[in-house]
Amino acid sequence: MTDQTPAPFAGPKRVLSGVQPTGDLHLGNYLGALVKFARLQHEIPTFIFVADQHAITEWQDPAKLKGQVREITAAYLATGLDPKVATIFAQSAVPEHTELAWVFDCVARIGWLDRMTQFKDKAGKHKERASVGLYAYPVLQAADILLYKATHVPVGEDQRQHLELTRDIAQKFNHDFGAPGFFPLPDALTQGPGARIMSLRDGRAKMSKSDPSDYSRINLTDDAETISQKIRKARTDPDPLPASLDALEGRPEAQNLVGVYAALAGKAPQAVLDEFAGQGFGVFKPRLADLAVEVLGPIGAEMRRLLADPAEIDRILADGAARARALAQPTMAEVRKIVGFWNS
Ligand code: TYM
Repeated sequence: MTDQTPAPFAGPKRVLSGVQPTGDLHLGNYLGALVKFARLQHEIPTFIFVADQHAITEWQDPAKLKGQVREITAAYLATGLDPKVATIFAQSAVPEHTELAWVFDCVARIGWLDRMTQFKDKAGKHKERASVGLYAYPVLQAADILLYKATHVPVGEDQRQHLELTRDIAQKFNHDFGAPGFFPLPDALTQGPGARIMSLRDGRAKMSKSDPSDYSRINLTDDAETISQKIRKARTDPDPLPASLDALEGRPEAQNLVGVYAALAGKAPQAVLDEFAGQGFGVFKPRLADLAVEVLGPIGAEMRRLLADPAEIDRILADGAARARALAQPTMAEVRKIVGFWNS
């Protein structure tokens, strides 16, 4: 190793991810993120939180916010996160997130944030009316991740740019403060056919909580009839399914539904085409609907069961917050020393 090569991070592997409590969770959230949380918890120590501080970058009704946090927690549990294995908590229960975010606000450059496409999408034409928090959103996200020195971050494709920014912040912090290897440069885990699930109404738009049409998405709480109906009505084209993935190019709706089937079945998209090549959507859609109901039906039912006992959810969140703080506090104490703060 030469003098110029920064020391690599030598700490243990750790998984961290989160979801904003800003509306019903949908199939994209499930296949892009939640399904991976449950899998990873058995391989690497896993920290999964509810991003209630990120949520208020756009107006949230204070009377509803705690309920929204419980709903996301119920979704985590219903999709297989085990609170005895993974650490599950609310972001606002660990004040070190925002403390570290301030330090990172002073590390990140305005030019870096100006490039963030999610801010541009969310702020729309009236950027000057967006909150400062919405602009600084990815910096808080970097703090969420690096506070736990997380090395792996399971997210959908849309978060890739935020993860690149997180790496840039980690690298600049380590360099500017002469703390080589202090923060890891975390990897985004975006592999698999579920990383970018598209709207059921438009195969070129992402499935999203904020799409005004409920028919654009399947919510985790939809009942079997609603799921089937949304799949029946999903936009498609008149051609049968082809034998090869290349032939799906230029057919975004068909490509999306094949991807959804693959992700729900835990198969490769090519294996789905091997099964359905030559068949039209009249055959494919009912099979997809059956599969979606089989996978999502029990999740919705389990969420409803868990939400009937909010005290138990709160107990799980309190326990998770204590475990998260036990890791966050020493990291933040080190950061205060590294920065040279009075309170270190
Ligand atoms: P959020 O709440 O928008 O979405 C939660 C997760 O769902 C993924 N996702 C999708 N995946 C596939 N197809 C889609 N159509 C789709 N829509 C959403 C997202 O990529 C995400 O993984 N900024 C994050 C929350 C966050 C966070 C963090 C994540 C805050 N701090 C630290 C990881 C680490 C967000 O808004 O996710």
